[in-house]
Amino acid sequence: METAKSSMYISQFRLWLLCFIIITLVSLSSSSRWYDDHISLREIKAEETFHFPKNFLFGTASSAYQYEGAYLTDGKTLSNWDVFTNISGKIADGSHGKIAVDHYHRYPGDLDLMEDLGVNSYRLSLSWARILPKGRFGDVNIGGIDHYNRMINDILKRGIEPFVTLTHYDIPQELESRYGSWLNPQIREDFEHYANICFGHFGDRVKFWATFNEPNVQVILGYRTGTYPPSRCSKTFGNCSCGDSYLEPLVAAHNIIRSHVAAVNLYRTKFQEQQRGKIGIVMNTIWFEPVSDSLADRLAAERAQAFYLTWFLDPVVFGRYPREMQEILGEDLPEFTKDDLKSSKNTLDFIGINQYTSRYAKDCLHSVCEPGKGGSRAEGFVYAKALKDGLPLGEPTGVNWFSVYPQGMEGMLMYATKRYKNIPLYVTENGFGENNTGVLLNDYRRVKFMSNYLDALKRAMRKGADVRGYFAWSLLDNFEWISGYTIRFGMYHVDFDTQERTPRLSASWYKNFIFQHRAQSKDD
Ligand code: GAL
Repeated sequence: METAKSSMYISQFRLWLLCFIIITLVSLSSSSRWYDDHISLREIKAEETFHFPKNFLFGTASSAYQYEGAYLTDGKTLSNWDVFTNISGKIADGSHGKIAVDHYHRYPGDLDLMEDLGVNSYRLSLSWARILPKGRFGDVNIGGIDHYNRMINDILKRGIEPFVTLTHYDIPQELESRYGSWLNPQIREDFEHYANICFGHFGDRVKFWATFNEPNVQVILGYRTGTYPPSRCSKTFGNCSCGDSYLEPLVAAHNIIRSHVAAVNLYRTKFQEQQRGKIGIVMNTIWFEPVSDSLADRLAAERAQAFYLTWFLDPVVFGRYPREMQEILGEDLPEFTKDDLKSSKNTLDFIGINQYTSRYAKDCLHSVCEPGKGGSRAEGFVYAKALKDGLPLGEPTGVNWFSVYPQGMEGMLMYATKRYKNIPLYVTENGFGENNTGVLLNDYRRVKFMSNYLDALKRAMRKGADVRGYFAWSLLDNFEWISGYTIRFGMYHVDFDTQERTPRLSASWYKNFIFQHRAQSKDD
């Protein structure tokens, strides 16, 4: 009897325990749902209360060689890219920019598309070979000056602010053939001469100048891997007939930095007070995540920035190369003269950040790396890896160098903010490229990309980054350098045979995004 009773109590107790566990689990899960809801609600509220400042620039970006075409029109002569694309095997689909998207002739229609999007700025570059076909060894080409004058006026007429880059990879071929362009210190005189003509002719209306677009990409691909003109590299780095992948990128970079400094000092002493514009530089950025938590990999991620980004930025802000470069490269790093040191500090009113992709950084200084895989002395003994344990960082896009990792946008903006003491930043390029697979107007992946990267940009602004503009790359599909027309970046599809432009989903999404933010900042 006693045993029957106690076994009844035991089973009642078990039942009670079971109910207790179920009730606790249910309430725990609903309270965690409550918690999640409130946390995300709070975040959504923060997003909602975030308004871009009234004068924030929303724009689209382009470059002369990728858009203009008209490669011999109105007195223009050959640029280095005209010559390079003519060499068989250099461009994936054997194409070139002779016509590109014919922006030289069709820019009024393209400006109408921009006006319709509601952008208040347009980032474009000038073709040096159009303005000075023979550099400082020849005359100014009035045909080129007239063209850009008309275009700048037409941009302004639509209430759009021109944001102009002096050189976006393309230079007059004359300077390459005559003295080896960026490898020769003479180029500084040419660049200064060119800048003087541009400031003089257009500076009354252009209030944003960038000296260079992505000089880091230009020297790495031009002189280390040899995949861009002038195709120079050592045998172990690529397939070039001559070059030195260790030293030449350093020399070319040094001459670019000195050219930037000369142009900025010229602007500041001769033009800025009257013209009241700003001048900066545009850099390609890669956000590097350490591949592991080890100290060596964390240091490698920092070194990676030194050998990619601060290589150019430290000299023009602090007047010296980054410490990591000095330590590793020693005497191979060109030296600044006393005059350079004095004149190169603080030669930036802003930094242009082109942000697309991120990579893992793996240490090759304190650890052993597989030879031939990257991570050489020229790269600061850092191997920039796409994968960790077979998994990519972010979402791959199908374009080999490019994976989607919005955290990289926030990371880069905060990095520049901290290192360069809150300097104004413009996101001068950000956009999504897809392999050319037919017309594809429903580009929801581009919309998701832009929306997530813009959210990351807002997070950086909330944390204090002084970001003043965002330029989508790009309004139109265009000539994508060595990939030719095989990769499309446009919010407008371009039929390269008929030059017809057709809006994709992303165009209406961007229009709506800009509209909403304008409306909100008006209410402030
Ligand atoms: C940037 C470059 C642009 C454009 C873009 C998309 O690095 O400045 O000209 O090609 O990449 O790949």
